[in-house]
Amino acid sequence: MCGIVGYIGKRQAAPILLDGLAKLEYRGYDSAGICVFSEDGFSVAKTKGRLSALSELTNGGAELCGCLGIGHTRWATHGAPSDKNSHPHVSSNGKICVVHNGIIENYLVLKEYLQSVGKAFESDTDTEVIANLFEYYYELEGDLIRAVKRAIEKMTGSYALGILCMDCPGRMLAVKKNSPLIFGFGEGENFIASDVPAILKYTRKVVYLNDGDMVDFNADGAVFYNALGERIEKVPEHIAWEMSAAEKGGYPHFMMKEIHEQPKALRDTVSPRIKNGRVVLDDLQLSAEYLRGVRRIYIVACGSAYYVGCLGKYILEKTCRIPVEPILASEFRYAQPVLGDDTLVIIISQSGETADTLAALREANTLGARTLAIVNVVGSAISKAAHDVIYTWAGPEIAVATTKAYSTQLSVIYLLALYIGDLLGTLSQEEYQTILKALTELPEKMTAMLTENYLEHIETLAGELYEHHDVFFIGRNLDSATCLEGSLKLKEIAYVHSEAYAAGELKHGPISLIEDNTLVIAVAGVPELFDKTMSNVKEVKARGANVLGLTTEDLEADIRKTVDRCLLVPKTHPLLQPSLNVVPLQIFSYYMALARGCDVDKPRNLAKSVTVE
Ligand code: G6P
Repeated sequence: MCGIVGYIGKRQAAPILLDGLAKLEYRGYDSAGICVFSEDGFSVAKTKGRLSALSELTNGGAELCGCLGIGHTRWATHGAPSDKNSHPHVSSNGKICVVHNGIIENYLVLKEYLQSVGKAFESDTDTEVIANLFEYYYELEGDLIRAVKRAIEKMTGSYALGILCMDCPGRMLAVKKNSPLIFGFGEGENFIASDVPAILKYTRKVVYLNDGDMVDFNADGAVFYNALGERIEKVPEHIAWEMSAAEKGGYPHFMMKEIHEQPKALRDTVSPRIKNGRVVLDDLQLSAEYLRGVRRIYIVACGSAYYVGCLGKYILEKTCRIPVEPILASEFRYAQPVLGDDTLVIIISQSGETADTLAALREANTLGARTLAIVNVVGSAISKAAHDVIYTWAGPEIAVATTKAYSTQLSVIYLLALYIGDLLGTLSQEEYQTILKALTELPEKMTAMLTENYLEHIETLAGELYEHHDVFFIGRNLDSATCLEGSLKLKEIAYVHSEAYAAGELKHGPISLIEDNTLVIAVAGVPELFDKTMSNVKEVKARGANVLGLTTEDLEADIRKTVDRCLLVPKTHPLLQPSLNVVPLQIFSYYMALARGCDVDKPRNLAKSVTVE
């Protein structure tokens, strides 16, 4: 979703802002803009479309002179993507300029009031309301900090804001609630941004702002305030990862790079947590006593992370014999779930900022459950709000469609399954060791899959199948959850209508949609259910479907008897098989997207980090 960058220093701001915004493109956007503040006042340039259009409009930033500025990529919420709705927004009297990530829920009431006192509006956005609210209070208070504090008390919703005031040259304010914002310390220059890659080229010293925090800064220093308005000290964290992690490194797309990074991401997530042949979760504060008393587990997440939760149900129930319910965060938060101190709520999120997931986590905390977050972004809001955190060490994930974060989330589910299963005595030692061995061997097996031949084979399949408009994924048990992810990938990046069904459910409705040449992708990776899935494949074949089957290498001859084309994966322990099965589905979606001329890394209408409800 929206991305923010702010700069104050001695260099020209505009090129730095454009460069920073380019590093935030992954968040998803439809328009962009910058404002540079110099002795000539605010110079604003904004446009609908890609950053390249903004760069062209400003001649790479050269048209806007000045060493202080704010920039923004907008993902439309209030009002269509257009030049006038793009940020930054300037208040009626031209004195206040803001960029905003988030949603102001009561913006209409505020707008009506501000209009009644003579403030004029040019856009449809909630952000222009903020700019005018700041102006309104600034006129009353004559002090920017006091004005911002009074205004935010009146705003409900979420915001990360970069704020400039014509009367305060060389200075910027930033404030946040429920939307991410970081502050970067430079030498004689300072930054704000929605995420680290935007400023990593200039500094590795960053502070993650908490909800309610405000920072008042210039080129030489910063003063931080908490939600109570008290001055606070912030100790910067050192960002260790390399810039190359946020660059394509020779791959045509981030998604392909990240597919290839999966073995390393898995190794980085799993290896440090295995010591002397046992899973050791040093990161957890959860006591063995508590875990023994857990009667129910919820797994709460959105998008692909939720589908990891769907796999988690099968995996954790099998190994720990505790009922597990995966539930979408957007549903959980309003469902009045029955929670207590014997309920463990596992929250899964790559970004750690997804609005619904964060709200669901807070709801679970309020209702008295113990919360454990599986998160990729260190210092993110979810990592801070949960009682316990297990980080997935996937590194920065840039492509909107997740691959390596998904795989590492799943690997943490396996670690938890072993850890809890061992503690509860629900896993035999033999099974424990077999699963553990398979888990440590996963990266190797995945590497062995990612050969040029394998990719070419899938590219050829996509070349043959890319014109299909409707696709049905079918599978049983763990495979039904993998189907959900395979189907989502195809929708997200290749814009193909696709549905995922438990194979046994097909005849209760969806089979009526199978016609001559309908594409069905059958995932048959659960050995004991292979024959049953093949029976379902025969049912769709009898109605004319064109079937692409996916199974393990040892079953190649068997699956070829029934399907038209096939995808094979190396065999591993049945519980871990989904980790390998998803890989060809990721690659298939990637090549389908390419064949259909889609923008793989930046699919239309989607955002990587969904910070609004
Ligand atoms: C967006 C992304 C998905 C992701 C989902 C949840 O929809 O495009 O890839 O699975 O958000 O995001 P999270 O950061 O909470 O895992």
